[in-house]
Amino acid sequence: MLGGLMPFVGRERELRRLTELLARPPSVVLLGGEAGVGKTSLLRELGRPLLVGRCHPMRFPFGPVVEALSGSSPPPGLNPVTGALRPLLPEFGPLLPLAPPPVQDAQVERHRLFRAVLALLDALQPVTLVVEDVHWIDDDSRELLSFLSRRLPERAALVLTYRPEDLAFPLAALRSQLSPDVTHTQLTLGPLDEQETALLGKHLLAGYPEPPDLWRSTLGVPFAIEELARALADGGLPGATPPAVRDAVLVRLEGLSAAGRRVVQAAAVLDEPSGEPSLAAVAGLPPEQAERGLAEALRRGLLREYPRRTYGLRQPLARQAVYESITPATRRRLHHRVEAPAEPRGAVSPREEQVIRLAAEGLTNREIAETLFLSPRTVEVHVANALRKLGLTSRRQLPKDLGGLLTDPGSHSTSPALTQSTAEV
Ligand SMILES: Nc1ncnc2c1ncn2[C@@H]1O[C@H](COP(=O)(O)OP(=O)(O)OP(=O)(O)O)[C@@H](O)[C@H]1O
Ligand SMILES: [Mg+2]
Repeated sequence: MLGGLMPFVGRERELRRLTELLARPPSVVLLGGEAGVGKTSLLRELGRPLLVGRCHPMRFPFGPVVEALSGSSPPPGLNPVTGALRPLLPEFGPLLPLAPPPVQDAQVERHRLFRAVLALLDALQPVTLVVEDVHWIDDDSRELLSFLSRRLPERAALVLTYRPEDLAFPLAALRSQLSPDVTHTQLTLGPLDEQETALLGKHLLAGYPEPPDLWRSTLGVPFAIEELARALADGGLPGATPPAVRDAVLVRLEGLSAAGRRVVQAAAVLDEPSGEPSLAAVAGLPPEQAERGLAEALRRGLLREYPRRTYGLRQPLARQAVYESITPATRRRLHHRVEAPAEPRGAVSPREEQVIRLAAEGLTNREIAETLFLSPRTVEVHVANALRKLGLTSRRQLPKDLGGLLTDPGSHSTSPALTQSTAEV
């Protein structure tokens, strides 16, 4: 069991920036960051009263705003228009003025409701309204926030948090709905760095005989660090995937189209970040489908781009979770394709591509062998074969960016052989 109070690590710069912005209302802050990176925790660390409402995947109309307001204490002497909130906030009972008589026109009624929220915020000043997880925002709340942002009271601030990978609409669409007259600032929260990760690990695993390297498998995402530490503290084996991380990754994977899922599985089997042709070949997908699958996996945050147009899982733990979810038969088939030459390119196999990518970066055969868990002799054969297929005579001729060399323009037609293997996985 993890014991004691959870420590909070790092984030001094982000906290300072956020505090500054909130000290200069009216202001709108868009706080983005991947799942579990620490958006909610950062806000909690602000140490100031916040009215917090969360968006929910069920997208309840006005859900987050009602939830946030229900946490407030309405002062006496409220504007009578706030009586329009009585049906939405029954818990306030007589603290709200009497509900105004109904009006026939739905739009007029809606306008009155919006004005009521504004009047309540006005009465609650100074106030910071936080709407969490706006990737799940409902249309009504979105319109209401747009309305509010255009008239934000002098001492009111609005903070919206979101996961870029789960946004179904472009952030620009949300931003365009906000008032251009109010300062809005976009902050992006990245993972913790290596020292901060080690520090958090030390706190979480105090007393653990040999604190393992949490950085390598989590790349600084606090949720993953915490779950890995929890699993170890509960007696889990150091190499095992923590159940909460596995579940989070698999839910995400399930949300992808078949092509997206296949590309992610291929990336997990390839292990090292790989180019699009290799992913397509191992996934057994024709190029157009692989391209769509890759775009989706990137957008949904399962894969990320690495240098020189290569793609891989975001973190080693996520890679492990995906890998373990692949059935043994499929896994065998995907591994087989890693070694098999990619037919439509008639050239290098995904494995050969991995090897020459590293060779192009200046790694020796021994270093490549260690990176890919191959024997130096196998690496030598792969390098020689790849060079021959590419019409080169020396590894020194390999350009730093292999993208152009490896993407055969002819490969963009669908090959019957590959279409067949698509159906097979
Ligand atoms: N700076 C930090 N120091 C220590 N622990 C942290 C830190 N940031 C986050 N955590 C821990 O990591 C976990 C995930 O953090 P949090 O819930 O704030 O992430 P989030 O970005 O809000 O995620 P989601 O997108 O799922 O809402 C929490 O259990 C939290 O306690
Ligand atoms: Mg959160």
